[in-house]
Amino acid sequence: MDDTPRTLPRHSATFSPEVNAEIRRAAATGIYDIRGGGAKRRVPHFDDLLFLGASISRYPLEGYREACGTNVTLGTRFAKKPIELKIPITIAGMSFGSLSGNAKEALGRGATLAGTSTTTGDGGMTEEERGHSEKLVYQLLPSRYGMNPDDLRRADAIEIVVGQGAKPGGGGMLLGQKITDRVAGMRDLPVGIDQRSACRHPDWTGPDDMEIKILELREISGWEKPIYVKVGGARPYYDTALAVKAGADVVVLDGMQGGTAATQDVFIEHVGQPTLACIRPAVKALQDLGMHRKVQLIVSGGIRTGADVAKALALGADAVSIGTAALVALGDNDPRWEDEYRKLGTTAGAYDDWHEGRDPAGITTQDEALAARLDPVKAGQRLRNYLAVLTLEAQTLARACGKSHVLNLEPEDLCALTMEAAAMAQVPLAGTDWWPGKGGM
Ligand SMILES: Cc1cc2nc3c(=O)[nH]c(=O)nc-3n(C[C@H](O)[C@H](O)[C@H](O)COP(=O)(O)O)c2cc1C
Repeated sequence: MDDTPRTLPRHSATFSPEVNAEIRRAAATGIYDIRGGGAKRRVPHFDDLLFLGASISRYPLEGYREACGTNVTLGTRFAKKPIELKIPITIAGMSFGSLSGNAKEALGRGATLAGTSTTTGDGGMTEEERGHSEKLVYQLLPSRYGMNPDDLRRADAIEIVVGQGAKPGGGGMLLGQKITDRVAGMRDLPVGIDQRSACRHPDWTGPDDMEIKILELREISGWEKPIYVKVGGARPYYDTALAVKAGADVVVLDGMQGGTAATQDVFIEHVGQPTLACIRPAVKALQDLGMHRKVQLIVSGGIRTGADVAKALALGADAVSIGTAALVALGDNDPRWEDEYRKLGTTAGAYDDWHEGRDPAGITTQDEALAARLDPVKAGQRLRNYLAVLTLEAQTLARACGKSHVLNLEPEDLCALTMEAAAMAQVPLAGTDWWPGKGGM
């Protein structure tokens, strides 16, 4: 045997095995990769921030004896009936079509048990979710699929979707496999044919038109319901300012890690700004207009833990919203289905071909046999438990910072572990009183 020392085979960082595999896949098929989920690349995130905790100058609250509030009211600006939530965590809009009816029911049940709201999505309102959601937000999307003024009046709030963090500037996709008779009927589409959602609203081109649209929606709903405007994390300062100018009660800001049901991978990974980078500019826009805490800010995109929730609130959000984490709580990507994930060429935790509609967990599918695997009562309970843990964790952190309400958390409670996170969150780099862009030491 030749025992001359050799260099180990080296993979290129530029042409990594994953990059090469994608080149080969593209060469073999000639079509781009479509998938669900959010950005998989690492970008600065809430993990790059730490709470400072109590000290001589900060007096912590006692967990067992001293209260720390978690309630939040959304839509206090113009709506006659603002939304009162017990926790500052809402369930994000996810379409029926992308999700099964059972999954929508489970989201409604879990959110209701936890004292929060859930949201419809592209394709309209289902009885499963209206029937089981105490508070339901109705989305008005560019596609107008399933849009129905009667359903709009049955909702508790209305959310105009301008964009999503996973694909600002792009529309969604629902492939033919998931367009069953029921989905097609709700969307006025042919059964089994691939469908693309529009990327922009058909009846307005800018903020002045949006103002008119918001007035229309207020008139249809008797000025009762809060009107949210949802934007992807593209230009958060200006988008927030324009949404406020157009008359929004609530701004929903979805960063690039935000999940989607299905779109091009190139879009998910290469468009939009990280959630962490979006919050401070949006809060600054609200502050510049004298609207911080008057127009509420909901932040989403990669929220997983109570620490994420608390950090988003500390940076100035009034609430957060979750999509992917809620699906995982229901049972998505559960290792119990590993054998079936393997058959689909993937593994639990990495399964993202939601557009194919073959989800072994019965969540991102319209296949009746697969959908029947999800018990909406048990899954709703799991979601309720998970939301309770997020809330308890956020409360624990807030108490440690001496706050009697989670909304009293502030940037001053945080430091950053990296220069990038310090610059984006505008909190000091750990060990300094400085962040890039701020004068001083
Ligand atoms: C399965 C799925 C379907 C979605 N459908 C919609 C939709 O119909 N309308 C919409 O505005 N956003 C939709 N989204 C995006 C979510 O509303 C939300 O912005 C995003 O999931 C938040 O990021 P997170 O998943 O990291 O929590 C969808 C997300 C997922 C995961």
